[in-house]
Amino acid sequence: MSKNFYITTPIYYVNDVPHIGHAYTTLACDVLARYKKSRGYEVFFLTGTDEHGQKVEKAAQAAGETPLELADRVVKRFQSLWEKLNIENTDFIRTTQERHKEGVRELFRRIEAKGDIYLGEYEDWYCTPCETFWTETQLLDGNCPDCGRPTDKLKEESYFFRMSKYQEQLIRHIEEHPDFIQPKSRRNEVLNFVKEGLRDLSISRTTFSWGIPVPGNDAHVIYVWFDALTNYITALGYPHDPDGNFAKFWPVDAHVIGKDILRFHTVYWPTFLLAAGVPLPKKVFAHGWWTVEGQKMSKSLRNVVEPNMLIDKYGVDAIRYFLLREVPFGLDGDFSHAALIHRINSDLANDLGNLMSRSSAMVNKYFDGILPEPTAADDMDKPLLDRIPGTLRGVDDHMDAMAFNKALQLIWDLISAGNKYIDDTAPWALAKDESLRPRLGTVMYNLMEIQRLVALLIEPFMPDTAQKMVEILGIDPASQSLEEKGAWGGLRPGTRIQKATPLFPRIEQD
Ligand code: MSP
Repeated sequence: MSKNFYITTPIYYVNDVPHIGHAYTTLACDVLARYKKSRGYEVFFLTGTDEHGQKVEKAAQAAGETPLELADRVVKRFQSLWEKLNIENTDFIRTTQERHKEGVRELFRRIEAKGDIYLGEYEDWYCTPCETFWTETQLLDGNCPDCGRPTDKLKEESYFFRMSKYQEQLIRHIEEHPDFIQPKSRRNEVLNFVKEGLRDLSISRTTFSWGIPVPGNDAHVIYVWFDALTNYITALGYPHDPDGNFAKFWPVDAHVIGKDILRFHTVYWPTFLLAAGVPLPKKVFAHGWWTVEGQKMSKSLRNVVEPNMLIDKYGVDAIRYFLLREVPFGLDGDFSHAALIHRINSDLANDLGNLMSRSSAMVNKYFDGILPEPTAADDMDKPLLDRIPGTLRGVDDHMDAMAFNKALQLIWDLISAGNKYIDDTAPWALAKDESLRPRLGTVMYNLMEIQRLVALLIEPFMPDTAQKMVEILGIDPASQSLEEKGAWGGLRPGTRIQKATPLFPRIEQD
């Protein structure tokens, strides 16, 4: 079995500043990347920015800057947010980098050499004020779908990619690889679309200049999606592969994207790759969209949720937890402050935080903070201990299926079982009878050991909290092998347990 894992986010447009929707995709990838690392994989986790195209050119004009000045400024906002969100990406690609541009030109040349790119004429509806081409079906009552003004039929010289040629091959690939497009509903959507027939695709533009020139014809720039999608291989060094990353990590294990860019990733991108003779991605997973307090997030509604502000207010792990716990990955969800505060107070402060503070306080009170030796298990221990193997296996399965909310639900079931165990065993009563001291020691050991496993399981989601827990438990994570980490009994009796300060303070709602 291959122990390499390659995962990508979409590359973000620099004409917009990062919001909660961008943070969501990147966070999901980070959690998977950390999870795979914890399971011994060598991980390449890629994110970056999409810096070419008419929208960026226009935004720069409006701001009185060159497109590159704009990109240089906005890219920092993404990079600093990823740092703040505790994102551990391996590489960050910008489409204005030479390594990328060269790879794009080479991909173009290879497909052209194969005879799958030709010069033709592109005829569509043009909105002059917006400088945008629209297809017949995109128009609203014949008018521009963006500004509502009338459009004209215009012709533009354009290079075309023979996408139609790959229709049957793509259908076969999707049918033979049930995991290629996920969730399943998205797979059916794409399959129906492809079966309706693929047209050749216009892959160059002459109406603006901010892009990669077509090799051999400077009057054209390469269509922004051909340029952008290619980042997934240029970041690995394609076509020269100087570090061996392309050979090592391609085909990608998962392209994680939002549902709005599904077609680009499951129709355009695979057909480019088929034409170039490059193997197809193993999986494309499309997640849903966030609305805010029931409304579409948009600049004009002034309801864009700014992740920096949320992190400052609630803490990075609370946000990481909430985004992946609240909504099944793949479905749409709604962001509301009330829901966020509710999750923080009930799941984090009450369930997780209380388990740690109650149990660590008791080890300190009854055993001076020194973890006692466990003795034989009691009937009362069974419900808690029996739950562990299923939890570990279940979390693995859910993570592999990108069912983050289900993985978290299982971990929280274990945490609740830990809290119930305290209520059931009533350590304060055991402490009153000296002859029950060995039993009290076992209860304390089990409680702390459960939390060692909880820390291990939540690490991909909440790395800072996991680190705090590990410090309270006196573990040096580096000293344990993977097998030791997952097996019961990893905590050594005699370890000093710190008295925990609350992991998550309760939030009072105003
Ligand atoms: N540049 C292209 C992607 C090129 S990939 C080769 C792009 N960029 S984007 O910045 O507009 O969007 C990036 C991602 O953010 C997309 O996956 C999109 O689905 C996601 N989101 C943008 N708004 C969102 C929400 N409101 N909710 C969830 N995700 C959202 O598209």
